[in-house]
Amino acid sequence: MTNTEEVVKEQTLNFLSGKSSEDPFSLFAKLRSIGSVVSVPNPMDSNKQAWMITDMDEAMNVLKDNKRFTVDPKGLEDNNLREDLANNLDSSTPDTFFTGNSMLFVDGVDHKRLRKLVSRAFTPKYMEELRPRVQQIADELLDQVIEEGAMDIVKDYAYPLPINVISEMLGVPTSDRKDLQTWSSAIAKGLGWGRQDPSIAYSLNSFGNYTKQLVEEKRKNPGNDLISQLIIIEEEGDRLSESELISMITLLIFAGHETTSNLIATGTMMLLDHPKQLEHLKSDLGLVPTAVEELLRFNGPSTSVGPRFAKEDIIINNQKINKGDMLLVLVKSANRDEQKFYQPDELNVMREIDRHLAFGQGIHMCLGAPLARIEGDIAFTTMLRRIPNIELNVKRDELDWDIALSSQSLNSLPVTF
Ligand code: HEM
Repeated sequence: MTNTEEVVKEQTLNFLSGKSSEDPFSLFAKLRSIGSVVSVPNPMDSNKQAWMITDMDEAMNVLKDNKRFTVDPKGLEDNNLREDLANNLDSSTPDTFFTGNSMLFVDGVDHKRLRKLVSRAFTPKYMEELRPRVQQIADELLDQVIEEGAMDIVKDYAYPLPINVISEMLGVPTSDRKDLQTWSSAIAKGLGWGRQDPSIAYSLNSFGNYTKQLVEEKRKNPGNDLISQLIIIEEEGDRLSESELISMITLLIFAGHETTSNLIATGTMMLLDHPKQLEHLKSDLGLVPTAVEELLRFNGPSTSVGPRFAKEDIIINNQKINKGDMLLVLVKSANRDEQKFYQPDELNVMREIDRHLAFGQGIHMCLGAPLARIEGDIAFTTMLRRIPNIELNVKRDELDWDIALSSQSLNSLPVTF
């Protein structure tokens, strides 16, 4: 291996641990030139190898191959981050999506069973019925700031929109939504390559206890919401345990807003960075759904999907991967693959995209993608229609980015209009 390759790998690990720059794309391009399967030290055990998957074909191969790769390292891996974290929690803490058996961290029949219980609630057809309510929420948020001529896109729009939508679907009271957001944000930001902030344990604990209490209240006073429907399934007996119920609810809340907030805020920033594309979009708002796909490809919320683990010794692309090795599929890198996209580093709101990996791929592909697409469509359309003269209200290099292992987000995005 050359010195340059060593430097590129080290810089990538620094980025993933949250220590460096906001723009990983030139690094990812260099990683792709090293190979589609790149070895790095395992952050939890430096004697072991981990692997970064950098291009579209290999990313697809790994994510679709649930015979040879798994999201669940139990029995394969000595250093399991989720188990380490669970051991640090107070033993009375209920399971959450991260520490318990949520669909994100199980495969096979359990995954199928858990996903099937909620998949009907997230079909594109059902999501379309939510459109009027999502529109109303977007309009109400803009009504609150429109007279002022200024707002923070993150706090005033990108965060409240998706948390309110998913909370209404689940039946989470309005007064509790701020706490959910605070815990989710601490969990999303607290994990870097080999880094685990202590605030994660606190947030998981609070999140789990809150959800358990909410379930108890809804057992007594059921409503017309998804949590009440899941409680009926749990009480019927053999399809959902109480621990799985709490894990499922915390997953839906967490996954249901963190990433979508990020799409709206980072997406707005990407448009401000590309004024011609922004003008183009403003002149034809019918292009917004296409632009949302391009924003997801160009700089979507997820840097990588959750780690995968090899179930057996495997050779891919001449690299020998040992049973138990961890693989990090860098979807942001795959989405800039020069073999698959014409001028991948250009943002083009008219680009027709066959496939991007912002929602993952295979059996764990994002359950909430139809909802995220509707929220993205309405958020951008409403913003560009009602406040078209939007401008950044801080210097570009003063933006406050948070970089974690699986995502990259803005802490605030002040604008005038
Ligand atoms: C722009 C917004 C979103 C992005 C970029 C996104 C991204 C992702 C990705 C990449 C995965 C795959 C993780 C993996 O393979 O390890 C995933 C899974 C998941 N997402 Fe999303 N997501 C978004 C919005 C949502 C929404 C609104 C929900 C609603 C509840 C949601 C619920 C889920 C769930 C439940 C899973 C786990 C699916 C499984 O394991 O079978 N997501 N998401």
